[in-house]
Amino acid sequence: MDGAVVILLAVFLFSATSDPVKKTQNVDIYSFHINSTVTSRYATTTITSRVANKLNKSQEILFEVKIPKNAFISKFRMIIEGKSYDGVVKEKAEAQQQYTQAVSRGQSAGLIKSVGRTLEEFKTSVTVAALSKVTFELTYEELLKRRLGKYELLINAQPMQTVADFKMDVHIHEKTGISFLEVKGDLSTDDLANAIRTTRADKDAWVTFYPTRDQQTKCKTCDETGLNGDLLITYDVQRQNPNGEITVSNGYFIHYFAPSDIPRISKNVVFIIDRSGSMHGRKMEQTRLALLKILSDLTENDHFGLITFDSQIDLWKRELLKATQANLEDAKAFVKKITDRGATDINAAVLEGVKMINRHPREGTASILILLTDGDPTTGETNKEKITGNVKEAIGSKFPLYCLGFGYDVNFDFLSKMSLENNGVARRIYEDSDADLQLQGFYDEVAVPLLTDIQLNYIGVSNLTQTSFNLYFNGSEIVVSGQITDNSVESVTTEIIAISKGSKVTYRDTVTAKDVSDVQPEHEHFLERLWAYLTVKQLLDRQVLLKGPEKEAAKKEALNLSLKYQFVTPLSSMVVTKPQEDQAEVADKPREGEAPHRPTAHRPAVFASPGVAQRFSGGVSNSRIGYSGSRQKGSRLQSYPARRDPDLFGRKRIMGMDYDDHSSSVTADFLHTVAVPVVPVVPLVPLVPVVPVVRSHRFLLPADGQPKPLCFDVPLPYKLKLLEDSSIEFSMNGESKTSENGFSQIAFHYKKTHHLVVNTTSINYHNDQENEEFFWGHKYTGLNKDGVSVLILPSKVNITVGDFIISVLIHKNGDLFLWPGVEQYPQGSSPTGILGKASISYEKIKGYSTPTLKIMDKEVTASRADVRDYRITSAPIVRCWLVPFDAVMNGNISDFTVTQL
Ligand SMILES: *[C@@H]1O[C@H](CO)[C@@H](O)[C@H](O)[C@H]1NC(C)=O
Ligand SMILES: *[C@@H]1O[C@H](CO)[C@@H](O)[C@H](O)[C@H]1NC(C)=O
Ligand SMILES: *[C@@H]1O[C@H](CO)[C@@H](O)[C@H](O)[C@H]1NC(C)=O
Ligand SMILES: *[C@@H]1O[C@H](CO)[C@@H](O)[C@H](O)[C@H]1NC(C)=O
Ligand SMILES: *[C@@H]1O[C@H](CO)[C@@H](O)[C@H](O)[C@H]1NC(C)=O
Ligand SMILES: *[C@@H]1O[C@H](CO)[C@@H](O)[C@H](O)[C@H]1NC(C)=O
Ligand SMILES: *[C@@H]1O[C@H](CO)[C@@H](O)[C@H](O)[C@H]1NC(C)=O
Ligand SMILES: *[C@@H]1O[C@H](CO)[C@@H](O)[C@H](O)[C@H]1NC(C)=O
Repeated sequence: MDGAVVILLAVFLFSATSDPVKKTQNVDIYSFHINSTVTSRYATTTITSRVANKLNKSQEILFEVKIPKNAFISKFRMIIEGKSYDGVVKEKAEAQQQYTQAVSRGQSAGLIKSVGRTLEEFKTSVTVAALSKVTFELTYEELLKRRLGKYELLINAQPMQTVADFKMDVHIHEKTGISFLEVKGDLSTDDLANAIRTTRADKDAWVTFYPTRDQQTKCKTCDETGLNGDLLITYDVQRQNPNGEITVSNGYFIHYFAPSDIPRISKNVVFIIDRSGSMHGRKMEQTRLALLKILSDLTENDHFGLITFDSQIDLWKRELLKATQANLEDAKAFVKKITDRGATDINAAVLEGVKMINRHPREGTASILILLTDGDPTTGETNKEKITGNVKEAIGSKFPLYCLGFGYDVNFDFLSKMSLENNGVARRIYEDSDADLQLQGFYDEVAVPLLTDIQLNYIGVSNLTQTSFNLYFNGSEIVVSGQITDNSVESVTTEIIAISKGSKVTYRDTVTAKDVSDVQPEHEHFLERLWAYLTVKQLLDRQVLLKGPEKEAAKKEALNLSLKYQFVTPLSSMVVTKPQEDQAEVADKPREGEAPHRPTAHRPAVFASPGVAQRFSGGVSNSRIGYSGSRQKGSRLQSYPARRDPDLFGRKRIMGMDYDDHSSSVTADFLHTVAVPVVPVVPLVPLVPVVPVVRSHRFLLPADGQPKPLCFDVPLPYKLKLLEDSSIEFSMNGESKTSENGFSQIAFHYKKTHHLVVNTTSINYHNDQENEEFFWGHKYTGLNKDGVSVLILPSKVNITVGDFIISVLIHKNGDLFLWPGVEQYPQGSSPTGILGKASISYEKIKGYSTPTLKIMDKEVTASRADVRDYRITSAPIVRCWLVPFDAVMNGNISDFTVTQL
């Protein structure tokens, strides 16, 4: 092997170092092609990126692409100065051992990682000589899965540079005919939509996407650095034959079975909902929302049950009840009252769910157990092996268990195993604003059972993939592939036996090989690869459930196939030799459930090799090329949100499901951009009167004995003195920065030693010796020091200082901001500050054409106005009399500002 080595497991990319802006001119992606061919749902996609080093010295060029998580990379090649460097798939252990040096240099960390919900990113780099070119070629394969009545082919492109010759060609061939096809995604927006051409024939569809350089800067998520987004091609096929569709080619067959014209089966569904403390806040809210929607979608013949659990288990009703209007209303009332509280007893809760279903007669129906949890079992039985054992025994293969893992604290391996053992699947629910939709989406997939106990039998075949299935849901598809034992056999015979509404149904079909083989010669091996892909996927799932020699055998078989078909799977690694570099890279296909990639301070040392001039990325993700070093672009931040969430105990944790190691630089750039002070431009000599827009906060001031309160505006930006009582050395100040609605930070000072700073992420207390930080969304009741107590509630902190009781609310609708309210003023005190007055008296003076009030013995003109009362979580709109600031505050605004928070 000459030179350096790259070991790749799943995705790809490209990069060099330093100043990205100058780099663009030094690296040119002059051609970028993505070709995707889908034959009978099996998609093979090749990305070809041609890049020129325009510098008169050698430099490192980064290749970076994103591919669907479900796909296996099957080929990678670099062509430099006419020489090809091909990736070779090896056993992971062997590759790792061989290149321990690379591994020990920690370079495996960033090469392949999970980005977002559906994509993985692969990147590697190569040093390219002065004024030379490099071609990168990556191929990956996947079987498109039918969900909710359609297949989706996702192609991501983020070149980071405009490309003179950019082409995406997709060809779909489905022999029974394509029933509909739609091209969506952010790359189909704005001017870019004009670059998409869709051509349809009966069995074929072609989608081409040839954006000009100019168009590449014009889409919702694109800018001068080029394309950035996805194309999503959605389609479904015609299904005339109720027995399904069989394709035979080169000794292999595939059978797709997805009937839809059979009656739905009533279902018995039990939802087991985690309401432990960690679910609290938005997760709990979204869960309630999703459940309410799901309940509305139940049909009257369905029976359902609801179980909520923490350390204690609560049943809505002991029995499954029919989904009548009255029962649903009652259940909804139950759902609305679910609140988070204690620990997590998964074992007891699931066993209770099983009992509930078992108590219910199941004849002619389909039973489903759905567990939603966001954490580890923490109470009751906490040994995961014992739990999975108990659950498996209790269910006894009678019905499936689906586990929905909410957020990143879940032990996804545990949930996966428990689901797989019970004929279900585990699904991740990403902690995001659409979590309720994800939950509903999952439910929709299992909402309409059509068949149970499905067994598929074939004659004259071997090495079949899975042939028995517990349940078949409308909108999904049953897929079986295998080898034809005798190649001279002219036909394949299938038999499907299943239960439909309590009675046995049989589907039989015989297809002759010559009728079914209309596969183009260049794709004649696709069925063999499809079979291998499906077999490896199923073996990888199965080995999780096996033990000892059986497990080893399954792994070995999966590995054999991975090596034979050159798939980069969790068991294999791809090794790529590179020219003239004594360095190596190792990458592994991430598994679902693995901790998301954490940002690292430095790039792997490999990228910092001497003489390297720049980082550059030429790829796709399905496509991504160009500069990856940093990208000054807000949209990128949106598509790769880095979350900072506290954990259960309020400690700081970085949570970034989409975090990649560019994020730190991207974030820095972003901050840099927004941190530029916004200076209002005030024309010196306005030709027409200009009413300057003054940002202000509107405060409410309750009135004694009057129905309507007063309100007044406080101009911004100032650091405001909100409350001060010098007799007890107490002050509270607020600062507004990020939001026009409220405060970004509120500070409390007491007796010179106690300081409490509340901002939109945390609540920080310190005195001379201690420093304690708590986070919003995590209840904590313990802080009580020397006249200061802090109680953290879901969207409110309750602060007691001396005899003042103050609440600070956090508002999360739209902007994130804080709002203070004084709930109790000490008797006899006379505090100052904007909130210094608990209330005020006024009188309405009659006889004026404009409303006039008498306040503190002065006549003041007022106007009717509205103000949101942010002291209350729901922020109701309150009618008030708007009066000038100095009419209610003794003094002008400069008396109510501070220089130091
Ligand atoms: C991509 O597909 C187009 C049309 O199907 C074909 O002309 C072209 O050669 C393909 N390119 C590559 C790199 O395979
Ligand atoms: C590279 O280019 C610079 C300026 O264009 C020139 O000064 C330098 O001599 C060149 N170096 C080589 C090795 O050609
Ligand atoms: C299954 O889905 C198809 C397509 O959405 C629909 O036409 C059919 O009525 C559904 N079948 C049942 C039993 O709901
Ligand atoms: C397929 O099945 C045959 C037996 O029918 C077996 O000999 C062969 O090894 C199998 N092939 C693979 C790749 O598993
Ligand atoms: C895997 O392949 C090796 C040799 O390539 C062979 O000895 C072994 O029997 C195969 N294992 C299985 C499970 O097919
Ligand atoms: C809140 O304060 C903490 C520490 O006091 C700081 O780390 C954090 O960045 C602040 N958050 C915001 C949004 O300013
Ligand atoms: C806030 O704390 C005070 C004293 O600890 C208590 O009297 C008051 O009820 C609390 N308010 C809320 C909303 O819990
Ligand atoms: C506010 O007070 C400051 C300092 O006392 C004074 O200089 C300024 O003129 C006052 N402004 C108004 C509008 O009264």
